[in-house]
Amino acid sequence: MTGPVLDVPVVIASNRGPVSYRDDGEGLVPVRGGGGLVSGLQPLVDSGQARWIAAALSDDDRAAAALGIPERSGPVHLLDVGVDDLTRYYDVVSNEVLWFLHHGLFDGAHTPTYTDEWHESWQAYRRVNDAFAHAVCEHSPTGAAVLVQDYHLTLLAPTVAAQRPDLRLVHFHHTPFAGPSEVRLLEPTALRELLDGLAAHHACGFHTDRWATNFLRCVEDRSLPAPRTFASTLSTDLGAIREVAASAECAAALARLEERVGDRFVIARVDRMELSKNVVRGFRAYDLLLRSRAELRGRVVFVAHCYPSRLGVPAYRDYRDLVVETVAEVNERWGDADWTPVLLELDDDFASSVATYRRYDALLVNPVRDGLNLVAKEGPAVNERDGQVVLSTEAGVWTELAGAVDEVNPFDLVGTAAALGATIDRTPTDRRARSEQLRRDAEARTPGDWLADQLRAAR
Ligand code: G6P
Repeated sequence: MTGPVLDVPVVIASNRGPVSYRDDGEGLVPVRGGGGLVSGLQPLVDSGQARWIAAALSDDDRAAAALGIPERSGPVHLLDVGVDDLTRYYDVVSNEVLWFLHHGLFDGAHTPTYTDEWHESWQAYRRVNDAFAHAVCEHSPTGAAVLVQDYHLTLLAPTVAAQRPDLRLVHFHHTPFAGPSEVRLLEPTALRELLDGLAAHHACGFHTDRWATNFLRCVEDRSLPAPRTFASTLSTDLGAIREVAASAECAAALARLEERVGDRFVIARVDRMELSKNVVRGFRAYDLLLRSRAELRGRVVFVAHCYPSRLGVPAYRDYRDLVVETVAEVNERWGDADWTPVLLELDDDFASSVATYRRYDALLVNPVRDGLNLVAKEGPAVNERDGQVVLSTEAGVWTELAGAVDEVNPFDLVGTAAALGATIDRTPTDRRARSEQLRRDAEARTPGDWLADQLRAAR
């Protein structure tokens, strides 16, 4: 993807940056970040048109930041906010509370609970946001558009607006946004500061109208002046994913996969091991399918790439254990010497995930709630089997793909089992027509369109 031509300088602020560092024994080597955010914004940085401010997230990142390595290799500034503040701001506030809030993961009966520990963590979140605000003020050229990304950085706008009125501030939220009743599960001081902070941007963007509307209703509830809001979905970088699909590494991974699955019908999923991704219910729905349709036993296989994520948070460690246990149960119940019903891959190996994208017959994407979900676009972009997609209505991407997917309510195991079964029963002609439509819908936009929408909002 080539970089857009900008009429103003751009500064990006996000928790995770475009590069991290790893000590390989001989020195600190840069590792380019993956994911939608980087593919959407990296072209700007590569073309020398933008600066990126992010947190130093590991010891190696902090060592690189102390030596000024990121700045020398590109216009990237890694902020060292200290390990204690980083843990509280990232693990406690961002992941245990804000992520749960916006994804509807609290159960009300036990969570959330705000103690002194929480208040200390909120202060750390404030301090980290302040550090970002000062870095933005210091590193932004006159008149720059500042693109602030996600729920980690909701508090910096009032400080930046006061110190640098020349800057245009856009916030883009990659998660869902909780509605006005749900958002009250957040501790009251934090809720007030968070909404004030977001409302201080010139514009706020979301992946779909649904999240933008929720945000506006929350702002109206507090009688705040609403910033301009917009919906703009991110898309797969087709060039990049096709390059991986065409690589020798991916071919080797596909050959290994073919050997394991043979000519069976492949149901697949590719996700972080994440509570909102609804991994466990996915396996339980598959279990139900095997229970209710004996003729499918031995003929299907579920290939699941679930790579561990945010292991600093106890709920994520428990969830990982539950996923592994559930897979063991399903395999124990139905498997035999010739057939393992679920193949669970825990390694974060993108080439082998892309090999599975090429081979699946049905892709299960069933989050309980999701800001967007790029997997539902990546799979169709490289699939070679007229693969079908079973998609949760609660994923932001659902509005874009609704016409060509099998939709499911993520909590409905019976419905999910039936939708998976329907993909197996579909005629080849129907499979082709749906997969072609799906590919067209999934490829309708580019990461550049998403970036352009943010820049437009900054004007
Ligand atoms: C996903 C979400 C983003 C979020 C990111 C953080 O990609 O869609 O909204 O910023 O996860 O992941 P991390 O591993 O940095 O916690």
